[in-house]
Amino acid sequence: VSDLMDKVVSLCKRRGFIFPSAEIYGGFRSTYDYGPLGSLMLQKVKGAWWMDMVQKRRDVVPIDAAILSSPKIWEASGHLANFTDPLVDCRNCKERWRADHIDGVCPKCGSSDLTDARAFNMMFKTFVGPVEDAAAVAYLRPETAQGMFVNFKLVQQSLSLKPPFGIAQVGKSFRNEITPGNFVFRTREFEQMEMEYFVHPGEAVKWHEYWYGERYNWYLSLGIPKEMIRLRHHDKEELSHYSAGTVDVEFLFPWGWGELEGIANRTDYDLRAHMNASGEDLTYFDQTSGERYLPYVIEPAAGATRTMMAFLIAGYSEDEVAGEKRTLLRLHPRVAPYTVCVLPLSKKPELKEVAERIYGELSESFSVAYDDTQSIGKRYRRQDEIGTPFCVTVDFDTLTDGAVTVRDRDSTQQIRIPISELYDHISLRVRT
Ligand code: GAP
Repeated sequence: VSDLMDKVVSLCKRRGFIFPSAEIYGGFRSTYDYGPLGSLMLQKVKGAWWMDMVQKRRDVVPIDAAILSSPKIWEASGHLANFTDPLVDCRNCKERWRADHIDGVCPKCGSSDLTDARAFNMMFKTFVGPVEDAAAVAYLRPETAQGMFVNFKLVQQSLSLKPPFGIAQVGKSFRNEITPGNFVFRTREFEQMEMEYFVHPGEAVKWHEYWYGERYNWYLSLGIPKEMIRLRHHDKEELSHYSAGTVDVEFLFPWGWGELEGIANRTDYDLRAHMNASGEDLTYFDQTSGERYLPYVIEPAAGATRTMMAFLIAGYSEDEVAGEKRTLLRLHPRVAPYTVCVLPLSKKPELKEVAERIYGELSESFSVAYDDTQSIGKRYRRQDEIGTPFCVTVDFDTLTDGAVTVRDRDSTQQIRIPISELYDHISLRVRT
């Protein structure tokens, strides 16, 4: 179990996906930096979400709200009072733990001499401006969702939107987790991809079912195997303070099932709370039916960094090609850091010229790697290990037949394709 995790973590560091932050200073409190391949891949994960949840949907619009936020938002939303985790101290070794993450025993020293659990608020508090007093308090947002609620009226009016419609946002959120861990599964700084879908209250249950179905299928469409993913309905006792029903998309991590995304029926909890606290009328008037109502909200809330980690775990594999061991990431072409690698068979100028031209053309549309060092076999292995689905090799025949070899990462099969058809060929294979 941990063997797979160790291998993924080690590959992430070795190949520039994810590093411990401030590594040269010994790291910093479970924070991570995304290296060249990691930032490319994270961008792809967010891009795939954006494509399917915003760009392709006439009923969803995006926003980009401030991370530094007013205490009024969090007071109204209930986060100041309720966004807490149960904290216990070990009286023996003084370590602190999240009570529901341990079984009454300190994981560090084994003592069961623990304090009673107390509520610990997970929001990061800071001060805006030079004076550190109560009037200057601000919070780093612990979820992107509230940005959609407080801007609901402005967004709705600016585009004359009629429910059902959604407001989506991708960005960083911050939670002062007591026990971050399992690599980037739980960190204090992470990225979310959230969408708030505003509907007529009478249609909330229908849309909730629609969205958890859609979201489950999204992960399958990006190559997560069926046996590694499931939907789990929350029990009543488990529901967040705002939710009338939540279904999680869960992934089979090496240590067991863990949440990738929660799809909640938030009712009118948030809009009502902000309407009461601000005094602004946030109701919607339907001119066709003459009805005035406060919309209900269905919220698919996913983690970008956590999802990227799930793709890495699901994709990691080792096999043998022609008697030689190889490591590969079977990433879907939509989320692989590089879609294509262009490889001139040798450094001969005439091959280089064609390879660079192909690189230039393909990089208008795809993220493209270029590698002209060492043997072609070694170069293929290097691309396999970082999940590049297609390698395009320029050889001496290319100079006469105007065609290149396209090698498939998973099957290692090679086909010959005219350069003029390369773009269409790759586009098609990325989409399917
Ligand atoms: N607006 C609702 C909301 O924020 P959540 O279940 O607390 O719901 C949504 O968060 C998603 O954000 C989670 O399913 C997870 O993927 C991601 N997430 C939450 N806390 C995280 C953390 N500490 N580290 C990494 N990802 C996290």
